[in-house]
Amino acid sequence: MTAATPQGPRKGIVLAGGSGTRLYPITHSISKQLLPLYDKPMIYYPLSVLMLAGLREVAIITTPADQDQFRRLLGDGGRWGMRIDYIAQPRPDGLAQAYVLAEDFLAGAGSTMVLGDNVFFGHGLPEMLHAAAARPSGGTVFGYAVRDPERYGVVAFDADGRVLSIEEKPEKPKSNFAVTGIYVLDGAAPARAATLRPSARGELEIADLLNLYLAEGQLTVERMGRGYAWLDTGTHASLLDAGNFVRTIEERQNLKVGCPEEIAFHQGWIDASALRDLAAPYLKTEYGRYLLRIAEGG
Ligand code: TTP
Repeated sequence: MTAATPQGPRKGIVLAGGSGTRLYPITHSISKQLLPLYDKPMIYYPLSVLMLAGLREVAIITTPADQDQFRRLLGDGGRWGMRIDYIAQPRPDGLAQAYVLAEDFLAGAGSTMVLGDNVFFGHGLPEMLHAAAARPSGGTVFGYAVRDPERYGVVAFDADGRVLSIEEKPEKPKSNFAVTGIYVLDGAAPARAATLRPSARGELEIADLLNLYLAEGQLTVERMGRGYAWLDTGTHASLLDAGNFVRTIEERQNLKVGCPEEIAFHQGWIDASALRDLAAPYLKTEYGRYLLRIAEGG
C-alpha cells in the first residue's frame, strides 16, 4: 500500500474511551479522563499536548455514554479558538479502532493522536511533535525507558539499534523501551487500520498498525529521553502520584502544566480579552486567578 497524500492540515485525536476497570469503583459512573488530575480534568493534559503541537482541529473519542459530559466540559472548542468534534466508540475494541472511527473526521489528513489518560511534561515537546509532523509520510512514535515494559507496547531493536518490531505486552520484553501514547501517523492510517483483524484479546491493536508501517519502512521510533516525564494515571496510586507531580511542578514554578486556556492564548488563538472572559467564572480558584495573571501579561 502506498501512503495517502496528506490533505489539509494535520488533525488531532484524543482517545478517551475505554472502561477504566483498574480504577473501579470510581469509574463505574464517570469516565477516567474526566477525573481530576490535581487542579484540572485529566483530558486537559493530552489536549494541551495537541494544542502545543499547533493542532486546532481535534476529535475526542469517548464511550457513547460519556460523550455528553465531555461536550459539557469542552463544547465545540470555540472559546479556545479551536474546533472540537466528538466521536463515539461503542465498545473498547482497541486503540487502532480510533483511526477507523475517525476516517471521516480526518478526511485524508495526517493526525497526531494522544491517549486520554497520558500525561507528558518536558522541555522541547512541541519541537519534537513538530518535527514528527513535518515528515511528509509514514508514522512516528516515541520510545520511553520504563521499569515495567511488559505492560506496554515494547520496541524490539536489532544489534545495530534498528527497530525490528513493536510487541504488545510481551511476556519477555526485548527492551525496556515502551511506546508512549502519542502516535503521529500519515493520512493512510484509517485505510491501514481497516485491514487489521482483532487480536487474541479481541482488540484492534495499535502495535499491529505500527508493525504495518514498519514493514513498509514507514515507521520512525524517536527516543523520548529521561528529561521528559511520561506519567501513568490508570491505577489509584499512579493517579495520585501524577496529581502530586503536577502540584509539585506548579507550586515550584508558579506556572501551570496542561492549561489549555493559556496555550490557546500563547498560540494567538484567543486574545487577552477572551482569556479574561474565560477566567471570570473561575475567580474563586487559583486556576481562574492564574488565567487573569496570564491575560495581564504576568
Ligand atoms: P487502557 O488504559 O489500556 O484501558 P482503560 O482506560 O479502559 O482502563 P482499564 O485497563 O483500567 O480497564 O486504555 C488506554 C487509553 O485508551 C485510555 O485513555 C482509554 C483509551 N481506550 C479507548 O478509548 N478505547 C479503547 O478501545 C481502549 C482499549 C482504550
